[in-house]
Amino acid sequence: MSVKGLDVGTAFIVCQEEDATGKIHTRSQRDAFFEVTSGEMTKNALNENETNYVKMGDKLYVVGDDAMEFAEAMGSKARRPLSQGFISPREPEALAIIKKLIAAVLDKQVGPPPHKVVFSVPAEPIDDESRRASLTYHRGSLTTILEQLGYEPIPLTEGLAVAYSELREHHFTGIAISWGAGMINVATTYNSVTIPELTFALARGGDWIDESVAAALEESVAVVCGVKENKDEFSLATKYSSGIPQALSIYYDALVRYAFAHVANRVKGLKRRFVNPMPIVVSGGTTSPPGFDDLVRRVVAETAFSNYKGDKFLIGDVFRAKKPLLSVAGGCLIKGIVG
Ligand SMILES: Nc1ncnc2c1ncn2[C@@H]1O[C@H](COP(=O)(O)OP(=O)(O)OP(=O)(O)O)[C@@H](O)[C@H]1O
Ligand SMILES: [Mg+2]
Repeated sequence: MSVKGLDVGTAFIVCQEEDATGKIHTRSQRDAFFEVTSGEMTKNALNENETNYVKMGDKLYVVGDDAMEFAEAMGSKARRPLSQGFISPREPEALAIIKKLIAAVLDKQVGPPPHKVVFSVPAEPIDDESRRASLTYHRGSLTTILEQLGYEPIPLTEGLAVAYSELREHHFTGIAISWGAGMINVATTYNSVTIPELTFALARGGDWIDESVAAALEESVAVVCGVKENKDEFSLATKYSSGIPQALSIYYDALVRYAFAHVANRVKGLKRRFVNPMPIVVSGGTTSPPGFDDLVRRVVAETAFSNYKGDKFLIGDVFRAKKPLLSVAGGCLIKGIVG
């Protein structure tokens, strides 16, 4: 038997597995594709360079990290097979592209079957009614792809994966929040048991920040995202008075407030009471800029959390995962190992 953890995200696809010596191996690809001119010359060049590509009809698509490189070289933009956490309904090629990327990060199967893969799926988005049905399609399509690749697929809600990887020292009790590119995924556990009222997704994330800043300043999304991801150009610990960094700070603040307004709203309907303060762990690529955890602490301190009877819902430590881009795949792997 073998087990792998797989995070199928809007921006990145990540796999983690443990070898016989207990060493963890990570493989990651950008969740992206780029159409290149079809023809024998191109195909031969791609083969010689060992570029990852898919052929569909008379079209060729470079996928993953290579797609980003190609897009930049062509002065264009790569496309994404996922949009706001789900397989994109606007990209007919999406399923074949995702299959190729998943096969690449899963790599070889080791040992005899069964080969299990625990894969992440978003929770139900509560701020976008129209997309709730998409979750069933998304989960079903990934299940089919993994079965076709010879695996036994086990879905796991993204926020729970973060809880499994980051809340061990808190006895798997707390609020785990994955801040991704397309979504924010929240999961709450009490001694590892899921609290469903506080487990949900919101259809906003890093992409929303990039697009909002770009629209406000009439800049390109790629330029904005480049500044956001460069710690020499942007930090949440610095105060800016103009330009892209200032606009990024404004939308980061708005995103964090948006998320905790939803958490507080859900807590308000809660017919439960927790005696001890709930720790909060934040993870995901969007938590990367310095100062993100302080921003969360500030917003949490300014938000009133109380249940349906008005009992205070206490928040404990707020901390950031050590490896924000890997904790979903890591949590999936833990779930696969522990069962
Ligand atoms: N160093 C960085 N600074 C700021 N933002 C970053 C950094 N690195 C990555 N990001 C942002 O993090 C996001 C990707 O994070 P992550 O990989 O957790 O998302 P995902 O799992 O692919 O998406 P989702 O969970 O929403 O489907 C992108 O918006 C990206 O711009
Ligand atoms: Mg994610």
